[in-house]
Amino acid sequence: MRRFRLCLMVFLCVLGTSRLALAAPPARSENGLALRPPMGFNDWAHYECHISQRLFVETARALVRTGLARLGYRYVNIDDCWMARHRNAQGQLVARRKLFPRGLKWLGHFLHAHGLKFGIYEDAGYKTCQGRPGMYGHIREDVRTFAAWGVDYLKLDYCNPPANRYPGLDFSRVAHRVYAAVSRALRHSGRAIVFSCSPPAYVYGHPRAYAEVMSWIGSVCNLWRTDDDVYDAWKSILANYQGNVELWRYAHPGAWNDPDMLEVGNRGLTLREQRTQFSLWAEMAAPLLISTDVARLSPAALAILSNRAVIAVDQDPLGIQARRVRREGSIDILSRPLVGGAHAVLFFNRGPRAARATVRLATLGIRRSPVLLRNLWSGKTAVVRGRITVRVASHGVAMFRIRAVGGSHPAMRPAPARPGGGPS
Ligand code: GLA
Repeated sequence: MRRFRLCLMVFLCVLGTSRLALAAPPARSENGLALRPPMGFNDWAHYECHISQRLFVETARALVRTGLARLGYRYVNIDDCWMARHRNAQGQLVARRKLFPRGLKWLGHFLHAHGLKFGIYEDAGYKTCQGRPGMYGHIREDVRTFAAWGVDYLKLDYCNPPANRYPGLDFSRVAHRVYAAVSRALRHSGRAIVFSCSPPAYVYGHPRAYAEVMSWIGSVCNLWRTDDDVYDAWKSILANYQGNVELWRYAHPGAWNDPDMLEVGNRGLTLREQRTQFSLWAEMAAPLLISTDVARLSPAALAILSNRAVIAVDQDPLGIQARRVRREGSIDILSRPLVGGAHAVLFFNRGPRAARATVRLATLGIRRSPVLLRNLWSGKTAVVRGRITVRVASHGVAMFRIRAVGGSHPAMRPAPARPGGGPS
């Protein structure tokens, strides 16, 4: 792996007007849930319909064995294809017996017994994206079924909207009605069920409809898909980042932009790109949903997913999604305030060649100087004044936690060596 070179230039502190909003106090979501971005596993990006009881049992065990569960990856979410093509004689959804011989109530118990949480997938319209029965017309009974199975998280897709039932209403209004009805049913289900929604992803590229959906989504859902389905190619990571980064205003505790699953552990990305996706998602306060073979994660991929300092940025209690404060050539510079007056700052090189960027602390929303920088991948620390200059490898990031240091400051201190460490 090529290594980043961090060049620190010490200039006089130039205080300027911050371009970042002041940290707002954490809000509560309507259902009081997901006050931090959900973390866990979802099968879809890696397995699509190739799922089974065994996959979820193995994944659950691996989450516990690897320590990922202890780090917060607790939701184990089953995506599309889990249900039979037809409801039973009572109109209830049934799991495919061949794939889930012991049923989903058993699986829910199993997950809970391992200290994990159980997530499930449905569609708010007539059918799921894979043509299985949707929830429309069965909202209350399906929510009852999920509650009886011990479900803690519902991902509700929108592949086949019931538009014909609402003549004269546009996409956003129909979606609002349907999702609000499900949200109500969930709140009355007797269980705390996190609500993940999909409508924005279906109007991506249609600015007007997108803005309409975004105007209500945070009052109904705990998180919502903002873009196309992610896949393990750089193009896909970049596209989902570019859309999601614009939406910082909408995120707050209990309401999160979801640029889709993590591709860490999958072949189509280099390790550096995997580290970049993980860093970008954390900086954007995105849900961290792993979609790979957790039982066979390489040590390098496991190390990425286990970076506590980066996870702490994602899970920061203020829940403020980073803003892109500057674009300099191929480098995007993102900054977000963290609890206790610190900031998480990320330099992201989108381009094909290593590049260098300089930014004033004031532009990052940091009004004090000098500051102590900690590189969240190498662990190295340094004290700087006024501005920061960083060189970043192609498709790489340099990510820092920054806090003010009072009065005199120590000289730059090298970090303790870390085996297989990231950029310095
Ligand atoms: C849509 C969603 C995906 C996945 C599939 C399942 O494409 O965006 O995340 O749930 O449906 O069919």
